[in-house]
Amino acid sequence: MKGVILAGGLGSRVYPLTYATNKHLLPIYDKPMIYYPIQTLVKAGITEILIVVSGPHAGHFIPVLKNGKEFGVQHLEYAYQEKPDGGIADALLLAEDFADNHSIMTILGDNTTDADVSVPVKNFEEGALIFLKKVPDPKRFGVPTFDPRDPSKIIEIIEKPEKPKSDYAVTGLYIYDKNVFKYIKQCKPSYRGELEITDVNNIYIKNKALVWAELNGYWLDAGTHETLFAANLYWANKKRTALLEKLIKETVR
Ligand code: DAU
Repeated sequence: MKGVILAGGLGSRVYPLTYATNKHLLPIYDKPMIYYPIQTLVKAGITEILIVVSGPHAGHFIPVLKNGKEFGVQHLEYAYQEKPDGGIADALLLAEDFADNHSIMTILGDNTTDADVSVPVKNFEEGALIFLKKVPDPKRFGVPTFDPRDPSKIIEIIEKPEKPKSDYAVTGLYIYDKNVFKYIKQCKPSYRGELEITDVNNIYIKNKALVWAELNGYWLDAGTHETLFAANLYWANKKRTALLEKLIKETVR
């Protein structure tokens, strides 16, 4: 399986932090944000990776990631999304040649997790597999509606619903077979002018080809000021050093 990380978009939710660089290069404790999805893929045994970039700071990725060798990436490619906010599915469409009929694991560049997805990656055969996580604020995400007769089945996903039908978020980790590109081409821009990944997932649902698993571990979409700060706290706490303990004690009284 190959891997695709989507790191386009303008990062406008975290202005002014993204005036000078791309959101995915902002720090999460001791590493730039984009290191986390790369590590998730490499840990799952995926070492051929395409990173989709866009916007005014697209060039900033190369001096940070270089050819990916220091992360254990065998092959690193970059693609440039012309319309930086064309949507997640628009960014993913750029991976068609790179995928070359392989299945792909796609991760949104602002999603950080310590979950190990190597088993679902190894067992994946066809269709789509999405990862869900219970959240206190589902309105911010794509939210699944479960079949009342069989809650293991999703009958629909609604993007940022006013009245969420479950308390699960669709996380930004997806595994797709080669049909994904055909399905993206069937989608039309949404009310916000974006090609939505939720529309692509709904096509898989309609074709009875989507399954889900609960993401096992910590997960956060670090795309807002609050969640970016929370992600920093989580990863700093995980790596607690004596000096950090001392500084926290002295700073937060
Ligand atoms: O984090 C999970 C959520 O991510 C899902 O629950 C939603 O269904 C999904 O639509 C997405 O929602 P967001 O509103 O958080 O997406 P956002 O616009 O913040 O984009 C997430 C990442 O995708 C971003 O860090 C970079 C990439 N992206 C986004 C857009 C709009 C691109 O590469 N190109 C784009 O045009």
